[in-house]
Amino acid sequence: MRILITGAAGRLGGRLVEILTQQGHDITGTDLAGDEFEHLDVTNYDTAHRFIVKLRPDVVIHPAAWTDVDGCAREPEKAIQINGFGAQHVALGAAAIGAAVVYISSNEVFDGKTDRPYREYDPTCPANPYGYSKWVGEQAVQHTNPRHYIVRTAWLFAHGGKNFIHAILNAVAAGKPLRVVTDEVANPTYNDDLAEAITQLIDTERYGIYHLVNDGACSRYDFARYFLDKAGHTDTPITAITSDQWPRASVPPAYAPMQNMAGQQIGVQLRPWQQAVDDYLAREGLLR
Ligand SMILES: NC(=O)c1ccc[n+]([C@@H]2O[C@H](COP(=O)([O-])OP(=O)(O)OC[C@H]3O[C@@H](n4cnc5c(N)ncnc54)[C@H](OP(=O)(O)O)[C@@H]3O)[C@@H](O)[C@H]2O)c1
Repeated sequence: MRILITGAAGRLGGRLVEILTQQGHDITGTDLAGDEFEHLDVTNYDTAHRFIVKLRPDVVIHPAAWTDVDGCAREPEKAIQINGFGAQHVALGAAAIGAAVVYISSNEVFDGKTDRPYREYDPTCPANPYGYSKWVGEQAVQHTNPRHYIVRTAWLFAHGGKNFIHAILNAVAAGKPLRVVTDEVANPTYNDDLAEAITQLIDTERYGIYHLVNDGACSRYDFARYFLDKAGHTDTPITAITSDQWPRASVPPAYAPMQNMAGQQIGVQLRPWQQAVDDYLAREGLLR
């Protein structure tokens, strides 16, 4: 297949470029910066539309986004332009040539006020500007291109990029005390597992909404305790705190784990998050 991947210099986009190239697909990657990929700012409708129509991909995978959730809270209009209307531009370009579009969304389209993991067709209600901007993107994609896959994910950890695991391990290495919240719950998800699942999904033509996260959920505190123990830091204490003791610009949904109900129907499933963390740590040379 000919596949366009936006945000190709990012964590998920980069991994998708690697896997799909290895699988023999004809891949074009775009991003804002870097020599490796073609420059494409998705906020420019004319440029994005022209680029897609000229390339004529079969599928456009769209991980490009403004992922700084606190930045989005400070500049909500900018977040909507990039994450919302950027997605509309990409979906319209794909629709113009009959191509499918894969939009990567977030568990933050939910408000976190539930008593069970969210399923794909549960009502959305974003509780912060990042979540709202991703929700605008979802709506725009659904309204403009019938061949859409909306892939919601959460708490990605990727090789080579900034992530929660590295932030905590860096703090340990610097001798800093650890304070981690117990009242934010979601699904830790390995970037490589997600990328693999997306490559399976685009072969199916089973359009719709998918919750592609590693199986199971935990609090940030339990996540940190798990990988610290696995990395040999069993004696390192973590002070359990609540989110009101960790003020930030963006307030994440408190309880927003997702259930992969739709992917399970078609055999697109991710393994339990603990196995994924073990694998990640092993590949980073950190598993003890
Ligand atoms: N990371 C997570 O925990 C997480 C959780 C849930 C959902 N998601 C979603 O998953 C997707 C992939 O996340 P990721 O962690 O791989 O993100 P990432 O590493 O931040 O990659 C996103 C890429 O998009 C680029 N970009 C930003 N604005 C753009 C624009 N106007 N036009 C074109 N490209 C632009 C970014 O460039 P710059 O770096 O130069 O801005 C970056 O290279 C995103 O859609 C995100 O919302 C992520």
